[in-house]
Amino acid sequence: MNENQRLESTQVTPSDKKSEKDYSKYFQTVYMPPSLKDAKKRGKEDVKYHNDFKIDEKFRGMGDGRKFYIRTYGCQMNEHDTEVMAGIFLSLGYEITDTVDDAHVILLNTCAIRENAENKVFGELGHLKALKRERPDLLIGVCGCMSQEESVVNKILQKHQHVDMIFGTHNIHRLPHILSEAYLSKEMVIEVWSKEGDVIENLPKVRKGNIKAWVNIMYGCDKFCTYCIVPYTRGKERSRRPEDIIQEVRHLAAQGYKEITLLGQNVNAYGKDFEDMKYGLGDLMDEIRKIDVARIRFTTSHPRDFDDYLIEVLAKGGNLVDHIHLPVQSGSSEVLKIMARKYDRERYMDLVRKIKEAIPNASLTTDIIVGFPNETEEQFEETMSLYREVEFDSAYTFIYSPREGTPAAKMQDNVPMEVKKDRLQRLNALVNEISAKKLKEYEGKVVEVLVEGESKNNPDVLAGYTRKNKLVNFKASKSVIGQLVKVKVLEAKTWTLNGEMVEEAAEVR
Ligand code: SAH
Ligand code: SF4
Ligand code: F3S
Repeated sequence: MNENQRLESTQVTPSDKKSEKDYSKYFQTVYMPPSLKDAKKRGKEDVKYHNDFKIDEKFRGMGDGRKFYIRTYGCQMNEHDTEVMAGIFLSLGYEITDTVDDAHVILLNTCAIRENAENKVFGELGHLKALKRERPDLLIGVCGCMSQEESVVNKILQKHQHVDMIFGTHNIHRLPHILSEAYLSKEMVIEVWSKEGDVIENLPKVRKGNIKAWVNIMYGCDKFCTYCIVPYTRGKERSRRPEDIIQEVRHLAAQGYKEITLLGQNVNAYGKDFEDMKYGLGDLMDEIRKIDVARIRFTTSHPRDFDDYLIEVLAKGGNLVDHIHLPVQSGSSEVLKIMARKYDRERYMDLVRKIKEAIPNASLTTDIIVGFPNETEEQFEETMSLYREVEFDSAYTFIYSPREGTPAAKMQDNVPMEVKKDRLQRLNALVNEISAKKLKEYEGKVVEVLVEGESKNNPDVLAGYTRKNKLVNFKASKSVIGQLVKVKVLEAKTWTLNGEMVEEAAEVR
């Protein structure tokens, strides 16, 4: 079924026999279930750029007197989608609230990356059941990456009938329609397009805070690492046009934002999908660095597409920060091959060498998966040795979690869970050791901090991040919130730095 056919009909019954048998008793007003199989297809649909999003007059005022609450799980992409949905809610007349207690609509913007991410959401849905019983008028919705999975939608249909709506990552702009259907219908509204994806430009956004902002530069992922669900939940790689990105960054700079993070699952593939021009992430960064905003970051980099030109541009420094998040996943070429990462240990190390040569001060962070199916002790040790060799500043470390529908989930796995847990602990000990060692080097030095606000643990202390993304706590007047200040580091903890504000910079790093 293509998108147009889907759009034409609001009453679609499940097409395959299994779902008909299981779910015919539920009559959905809108039933557009996800299909991981369809989501896997690539290259047949053209990316369409839409600039014509508008709120239909008939939906205006829908939210008058009502409040919405969105809980976000997962990565920055999801955080940013929440900002878009918040923008749509406000355009509909809703007010924002930060508690479920007085919300009229509750959305869970979910993440499917690992099983424990999904368990958290199912746990939360369990809690919300009582709330829905007390207040039947409450609307509860599930969106984000989990809603792109058939198994999740089926489980919600079977076990969480108090959910009013499920919609997918390609359906965010349809929120007004989905809400309107949910108000009219007594049944669950399900609208999940399993398409390759479009680019929708002029969606409203309400940003969290006025100091740092996220800007999508591309969507989706075509890498299909064998363990990963993202290419199925987010559609194919598709880039926003440079002029749209530059305009958004300029606008944010004019509004006084100090730090912009360019977002994509695999930002190094930026521009590969343009048929009319050769234009990559290096070209984009070279233009964006000329915009008057203090710091520009980007995430996430895939080592495979990280080209020399990008390194050359990043080496120009200025507002381009010298911190690169470069997920390696494993230090073993054999494991990397089975993961389909499309680089090996040597290539990764070459890239690290090139980056360090061009940007000697660069700080590198990474993501690592331990306990991939059949990972041997020797292969795990290769990850440990690579970590030592690169001396990453820090890392996100994970135990491999099988994701239904991905190739790795079908692999036999001879590594017991206790062994995986033990490897994770050993790796984390190394990560902490090197992080502490690196932070120790900051003692007595002066760093530039973008002050974000009061520290979470102590309101008498302010907190902010350095260019290399180190969290710094220090005492100063609240008037410096939102500004870049110089802080002398007095003490290094394992993950954070404590210091005091200074007027003059001795050395800024
Ligand atoms: N696009 C980014 C990663 C996005 S997901 C990249 O390719 O680098 C963030 C991290 O989650 C990944 O880097 C990986 O380390 C981890 N991850 C993804 N799938 C996983 C799985 N099935 N089990 C455990 N960790 C996983
Ligand atoms: Fe997942 Fe790999 Fe794509 Fe990253 S590059 S989102 S790990 S498939
Ligand atoms: Fe999770 Fe989806 Fe992001 S699976 S990590 S929210 S792209």
